[in-house]
Amino acid sequence: MALRFAKRITEYRLAKDLFTRGKEIILSPEAQDMKNYIQHGETTVFEHCVAVAKYSLLMAYFLERTLKINVDKDSLVRGALLHDYFLYDWHIKDQSRRFHGFRHPGIAKRNADRDFDLNDIEKDIISKHMFPLTPFLPMHRESYIVSIADKWCALAETFKIDVSSYIIYRINFRIALANGEYSIDYGETAIEV
Ligand SMILES: [Fe+2]
Ligand SMILES: [Fe+2]
Repeated sequence: MALRFAKRITEYRLAKDLFTRGKEIILSPEAQDMKNYIQHGETTVFEHCVAVAKYSLLMAYFLERTLKINVDKDSLVRGALLHDYFLYDWHIKDQSRRFHGFRHPGIAKRNADRDFDLNDIEKDIISKHMFPLTPFLPMHRESYIVSIADKWCALAETFKIDVSSYIIYRINFRIALANGEYSIDYGETAIEV
């Protein structure tokens, strides 16, 4: 019970940190378009990117606290959130989507570059996240972190292992709050005489 509570608090803080760092992307209608496409199993591309950002951030905490290795966590989260920003359904087979596995990092980077103001680390994260499938060596430690988190999340989603439903719920709650789709009624709206 206490362990479950501690885990929930940790996840709550993690969701808050992730949202704060990735707010500009998370709240943009462009990034939310990723909700319209499926990545693995029943997971949307948007949910997959949130899950990858979560595990990237967890790895960054570990590296900083345990090994004293600094990580640019803002760029890490933003890059993770946009790493699969290719904006099409890769399950539909057509000529232009051939070799999706090899080509989508470049497409995602071009789309992200068009819609957001990216720094070099964020661009590197997006375009190199399929390493070693794509032979371009990541230039920043943040890119390696996202690449590892991506593989773990892809595996979990394919085998339907729930590793991120709580953080996705928290992020969607924050989006609803920011869009004014959720309000708290304190019972002051109607007074019966
Ligand atoms: Fe990808
Ligand atoms: Fe991915």
